[in-house]
Amino acid sequence: MNYSTATQTGTLLSRYYRRLLPLYRRSNTATDGGHSEEHKRTTAASASPYLEMSSPLDLYECVTAQGETVRSIKAKKGSKEEVDAAVQVLLQMKLDYKRVTGQDYKAGCPPQDGVTPQDGAAPQDGEDQVDPWSVSSSSAKGVDYEKLIVRFGSSKVDQELVDRISRLTGKTPHRFLRRGIFFSHRDMHQILDAFEQQKPFYLYTGRGPSSQAIHVGHLIPFIFTKWLQDVFDVPLVIQLTDDEKYLWKDLTLEECRRFTVENARDIIACGFDVNKTFIFSDLEYMGASPAFYRNVVKVQKHVTFNQVKGIFGFTDSDCIGKISFPAIQAAPSFSNSFPQIFGDRKDVQCLIPCAIDQDPYFRMTRDVAPRIGYLKPALLHSTFFPALQGAQTKMSASDANSTIFLTDTPKQIKNKVNKHAFSGGKDTIEEHRKLGGDPDVDVSFMYLTFFLEDDELLEKIRQDYSSGAMLTGELKKSLIDTLQPIIAEHQEKRKHVTDDIVQQFMTPRKLHFSC
Ligand code: TRP
Repeated sequence: MNYSTATQTGTLLSRYYRRLLPLYRRSNTATDGGHSEEHKRTTAASASPYLEMSSPLDLYECVTAQGETVRSIKAKKGSKEEVDAAVQVLLQMKLDYKRVTGQDYKAGCPPQDGVTPQDGAAPQDGEDQVDPWSVSSSSAKGVDYEKLIVRFGSSKVDQELVDRISRLTGKTPHRFLRRGIFFSHRDMHQILDAFEQQKPFYLYTGRGPSSQAIHVGHLIPFIFTKWLQDVFDVPLVIQLTDDEKYLWKDLTLEECRRFTVENARDIIACGFDVNKTFIFSDLEYMGASPAFYRNVVKVQKHVTFNQVKGIFGFTDSDCIGKISFPAIQAAPSFSNSFPQIFGDRKDVQCLIPCAIDQDPYFRMTRDVAPRIGYLKPALLHSTFFPALQGAQTKMSASDANSTIFLTDTPKQIKNKVNKHAFSGGKDTIEEHRKLGGDPDVDVSFMYLTFFLEDDELLEKIRQDYSSGAMLTGELKKSLIDTLQPIIAEHQEKRKHVTDDIVQQFMTPRKLHFSC
């Protein structure tokens, strides 16, 4: 190994140690779930964003360098403890390498192409990473969505589609459509054809209730789904995948149950119509509904382990619950999973509004649907809501400063925006006045495109900020003034969602809709 790769690997190694080793230590005290050492390690490692972000080649180099460390300790006649400690780390790295790449580590054989997680949608060098578990981009503007449409093979939500929605519903398109936030779709014209011919369709969306800390980004699909429900007057099912969170996170079933109810309250506070909306927990509904479970099994019979490995990057050491879970997220796409709403009809088409990272589930669903005699669900995909720190990644629910949470006070909102929102402004006022700011990388401006309803005002802010007439502090103030009442109103509405109301939404029952 020449000097420069050795130093590079050295940096990687120290990052690897710093971020991963404490996690391994903590994993030994994990309570719920797997009992074997192997399982605990896997759980700990899956919780590490660093490991997930490392490319197979990074990891390969880490293992190789650790092998050399072991050899050199032995050559220098290091103590038995020293050798054992280094070997321990080496073994752990080999396990991780296998988990991430699906291959055994072999000295001198770098990881093979094509076994990296994912299918044809796998990112090439320099491309953005987008899947249900990780989203990242190297550009301050965030993910390149135009390229994603090509890579995923979906269609662009173009002006013609937005106009058609507006014409058919007689309503002004939602700001998320006007501003390209729901930017991609599959078969949306088919849904509109059905609507035009007064044939029914229904909406399906969901959430993995992993924590009580819900942030504004989590609301995007629900705000939009509520609008769709209102303008099309259609039934809606909302899946709370408490089973998914139990399988992926270090949570007990009881904790998942609690999060489900708490999350349902926030969802209901978005204003859904109880007569048209069924919210269900997988852990409850799966057992109570033979029709739903029949569809899960149908999907399970028609998707192979190889296919889910390709689509989701599962490996031999993932628990079997994860491997079969995609069938459970697929089942609500078929109307006869809900006999209380649709009887035994299997021909009511489904439209799924979701963030684009959920697309792998529905690529799989659309692939099996015709083979089991069902219609393919249509989709509307949204972009990601950026972290306050910048558009490169999604926010993390565990970092209180990474975005605005639904429980934040007006003061917290103000402080977070002022302190943490990444700015596209210049370093000094003089420079800013002269050269102007860059709204395309400015997170406060991005948040305004999600939440400020007034198009003209938004455009004026964009122009004034770009020209330098508006300063960063002023831009931040308009974001604060926009968010504070929205969050306060949400909190007020949530207060009125009693246990009884949650129970009503979550009871399987007939729904009312016009078609
Ligand atoms: N897997 C999603 C999550 O972790 C939850 C989900 C289930 C979902 N079904 C869905 C999201 C349908 C969007 C559409 O959040």
